[in-house]
Amino acid sequence: MTTDTTTKGTTPDATTPGTPILDARGVTMRFGGLTAVRGVDLTVNSGEIVGLIGPNGAGKTTFFNCLTGLYVPTEGEVRYKGQVLPPKPFKVTAAGIARTFQNIRLFANMTVLENVLVGRHTRTKEGLWSALLRGPGFHRAEAASRARAMELLEFVGLAHKANHLSRNLPYGEQRKLEIARALASEPGLLLLDEPTAGMNPQETRATEELVFAIRDMGIAILVIEHDMRFIMNLCDRVAVLVQGEKLIEGDSVTVQRDERVIAAYLGEPFEGAPGAEEAAEVESAEAHAKAEAQAESAKAEAKTEAQAESAENTTDAASDRSTTDAAPGKENDR
Ligand SMILES: Nc1ncnc2c1ncn2[C@@H]1O[C@H](COP(=O)(O)OP(=O)(O)OP(=O)(O)O)[C@@H](O)[C@H]1O
Ligand SMILES: [Mg+2]
Repeated sequence: MTTDTTTKGTTPDATTPGTPILDARGVTMRFGGLTAVRGVDLTVNSGEIVGLIGPNGAGKTTFFNCLTGLYVPTEGEVRYKGQVLPPKPFKVTAAGIARTFQNIRLFANMTVLENVLVGRHTRTKEGLWSALLRGPGFHRAEAASRARAMELLEFVGLAHKANHLSRNLPYGEQRKLEIARALASEPGLLLLDEPTAGMNPQETRATEELVFAIRDMGIAILVIEHDMRFIMNLCDRVAVLVQGEKLIEGDSVTVQRDERVIAAYLGEPFEGAPGAEEAAEVESAEAHAKAEAQAESAKAEAKTEAQAESAENTTDAASDRSTTDAAPGKENDR
């Protein structure tokens, strides 16, 4: 990975720290009877790396889908740089939000370079006629697109594989290619859905560096990840989703110490958590059963001890007798 693309493609306000880039308010997504996301507010400011964590099925990917126009939220509003986003993925990309997917979505039979070029189409002004006629304008635009795509491949460390079919790349490199393709649309905000899933520790560390480098290019980042070390190393702020609701948001230290977060991850109930009452009942029943079992075993132990004691007394008496019995013998010996 190199960092020679430092500030290309950034918008002026994206580099001013603290300006809200993404503002999601009261986002709710229902699927029939299931509320996957419930009234979630989340802001990402320029220059920030924000983490979104939560147990499996918490609604993280659904929330991303609501941000990127794949789903139209049942309730709520998503603004990007102050503008309400149209619920259409290509319009969201054109507005400046790019993403990668939890389940990698590359064009398997295209080359690495072609995949990145696909990502550039929202930024290419040349229309259908220009493409069909292949005039000088088209050739110029195509050359510029290729140059930028190669630059991005260099940035993620895949330039040497530009002509490989994407399906032949190892898993970790496919994830990097997805990032390069997302960057090709020159976003102001990048959403990463589990960027290190399936990576080895070295690849994960390299991805950490890559995310920092993207932030340094002036692109704000919202990242979903289960790897806590990755999240805590990277993020300025972390929001925790549990059962579709935002449980807490704060800096990594605050979030890591929050007992409700620990409980959500370890599966222990916390006050106010759905199902906590039932869990408490089960726990008290278990404690009761354990106490009963302990009492039983103590009783059994006491009984065994008493038996052992009485057996000992019998033996002592017998041995006393034998001593007495032996005495005459001894006496006889004498
Ligand atoms: N299109 C859909 N139709 C119906 N239910 C859905 C749909 N998409 C997601 N869900 C449900 O919404 C809930 C949240 O799923 P989601 O994939 O957002 O969780 P997640 O936090 O991304 O989990 P993971 O960490 O496993 O990726 C789950 O119960 C899931 O089954
Ligand atoms: Mg998910």
